[in-house]
Amino acid sequence: MRPLAPVRCASAQDVTDTAGRPDGRLRLFFALWPGAATAAALYARACALKAECDGRAMRRDTIHLTLAFLGEVPSCDLAALSAIAAGIGGARFTLELDHVGTWRGNRILWTGPSCLPPALVALGQTLADCLRAAGFALEQRAFTPHVTLVRNARRTPQAGETHALHWRVASFVLVASERGTAGAHYRVIGRWRLRENR
Ligand code: 2AM
Repeated sequence: MRPLAPVRCASAQDVTDTAGRPDGRLRLFFALWPGAATAAALYARACALKAECDGRAMRRDTIHLTLAFLGEVPSCDLAALSAIAAGIGGARFTLELDHVGTWRGNRILWTGPSCLPPALVALGQTLADCLRAAGFALEQRAFTPHVTLVRNARRTPQAGETHALHWRVASFVLVASERGTAGAHYRVIGRWRLRENR
């Protein structure tokens, strides 16, 4: 769906080049993207789960937490998306990833927080509200913050609760999902800082 708000077909200041597909569309989502240390810790958890349950661990460079999945949008909507993101103004928070869960017949293994930080809930809700108000179509399903770690698992992991990984979140990003010969490649095309707590 096209945004209702006026859209300028020009690149936004804080969104890098579109380098999109020939049809001028991009597959996009807003996400939290871990820094190197958190990504390494999450990847270690993914490898441990893969060892226990088999399946395919996410690559370290693809590990993230989705805030809002937009699907295919025309690249000229990037300016509107950038303006929405810049207006969110959320606060920083720490995620305590202390839970391991399974989905889709136990084939997907993920980690998430058993206790949701209010600032994360507010960020997800505000983003969804603003995107919908601008005419972007989002899925109706509830926002369930999770980090997918293993796909095509063959067994269910033992532990639901696990030791907490602390992820300090200071920004959120807009990501383009691109198909390559080696599978999906995620390219961060915009980043917005969250405000410091006082
Ligand atoms: P997942 O990790 O649970 O698969 C890029 O595809 C990201 O957007 C993934 O983190 C994926 O969640 C999420 N996502 C949410 N809804 C999606 C959808 N309908 N199709 C593909 N990915 C979706």
